Amino acid sequence: MLKTTLIALALTIAGSTAAWALSDKQRAAIEARIAPVGEVCLLGDSSCGGAVAVANAAPRSGEEVYNSACMACHVSGAGGAPIVGDIAAWQPRIAAGMAALYDSGVNGVPGTSMMAKGGCMSCSDEEINGAVDFMVAGSQ
Ligand code: HEC
Repeated sequence: MLKTTLIALALTIAGSTAAWALSDKQRAAIEARIAPVGEVCLLGDSSCGGAVAVANAAPRSGEEVYNSACMACHVSGAGGAPIVGDIAAWQPRIAAGMAALYDSGVNGVPGTSMMAKGGCMSCSDEEINGAVDFMVAGSQ
């Protein structure tokens, strides 16, 4: 008698648990709804906001990288960024040599808003150097 009651109780609990569980269809619907957010953060750059290309795509040109990751500061001069096309602002920097400029592009300038890779963490060093070339070419 006691045994039967316990089995009945166990079945009742198991039944109510199943009622709370998601059906495969509901689970798939939820996964589909949240999937795009996860993808953007995986494939995009560090900010997760300005994704510029899908991983494994062909290298981006200097101009493409500049337009997506550098322009925001280097057109406005935000935070003291040398404005592309401002020859006087770039002259002393160019005089320091391209190696120094590439280093600043890839590693950033400590103590300023010029962060490593301009924040484009999905950019390769070569892509950043290309953007630096593009900026220098337009500023002398
Ligand atoms: C958040 C703003 C910001 C972004 C985005 C940004 N920069 Fe800069 N950048 C600066 C500032 C500010 C400076 C000036 C730093 C200093 O005082 O030397 C600077 C300076 C530079 C310099 C000159 C450094 C030197 O040694 O003279 C290079 C080269 C440069 N940035 C490249 C880039 C590239 C390439 C990108 C995009 C991949 C980029 N920046 C994105 C703010 C930014």
